[in-house]
Amino acid sequence: MPAAFSATAADSAAQYLVRAEPWYHPVGDEVAHFEAAAASRMPMMLKGPTGCGKSRFVEYMAWRLGRPLITVACNEDMTAADLVGRFLIDREGTRWQDGPLTLAARIGALCYLDEVVEARQDTVVVIHPLTDHRRVLPLDKKGELVEAHPDFQLVISYNPGYQSLMKDLKPSTRQRFGALDFDYPESAVETAIVAHEGGVSEEVAGRLVQVALRSRNLKGHGLDEGMSTRLLIYAATLIRSGVAPADACRIALVRPLTDDVDMRDALDAAVATFFA
Ligand SMILES: Nc1ncnc2c1ncn2[C@@H]1O[C@H](COP(=O)(O)OP(=O)(O)O)[C@@H](O)[C@H]1O
Ligand SMILES: [Mg+2]
Repeated sequence: MPAAFSATAADSAAQYLVRAEPWYHPVGDEVAHFEAAAASRMPMMLKGPTGCGKSRFVEYMAWRLGRPLITVACNEDMTAADLVGRFLIDREGTRWQDGPLTLAARIGALCYLDEVVEARQDTVVVIHPLTDHRRVLPLDKKGELVEAHPDFQLVISYNPGYQSLMKDLKPSTRQRFGALDFDYPESAVETAIVAHEGGVSEEVAGRLVQVALRSRNLKGHGLDEGMSTRLLIYAATLIRSGVAPADACRIALVRPLTDDVDMRDALDAAVATFFA
């Protein structure tokens, strides 16, 4: 490997290090389990509803392991080239630019593909050669075979709740990953998280969690998803900024969740039980 390249790779790696410790409240044995998987660079899948702490967990683990973190928010317009890289034409002529997956493979980063089912299947398959024992990434257009750095590890997240048949991971993809289950934490832990992140008292946070529990019971009965921990933190943040708690709940918890008038009224009533 030429010296010039190594220097660039080292610069890139430093740039993607997570510098400050992300605040993460463990929910179970996920930290130890992820560490064990990371020791062998096993590709990992984080399954769980939106806003339950998956991304925060990955940031925390990257910091804990001292690995650079490269995150890609997946969407259906994403192409293989968006992950792998492409030739760009500029004043000096044509040059290759690595995509985030290629960069992560070169510098030995944790590569986090967030909401991977949003990506089309023909995009997702480019990760396959990186997940078998060869750990390579062919750059077909460039005619290069990138061998992954020993520290490279792939992590994907997805929400098993709202997949349609069209949007699911194919077995050929799923069976390349170990999987950790995530969910909204039990009330005491979620209360501590909302209090810490939203800057409100445990008492207020506890009531927000109670509202969320009501909404989560309605999942599958008119709601696709209950209120996430993320939304509870939004509500707490509004309350801390001086918004009346019942208004904060309407703005941050109820309106984002549903457009259905009956459901909205039912959730507003649940809010009124805890925030008069
Ligand atoms: N276990 C946890 N420890 C610390 N913060 C958490 C935890 N779970 C959720 N959060 C908070 O909830 C927010 C949303 O979580 P996030 O990781 O973005 O969800 P996801 O990636 O699952 O959609 C985070 O920004 C963080 O403030
Ligand atoms: Mg996320």
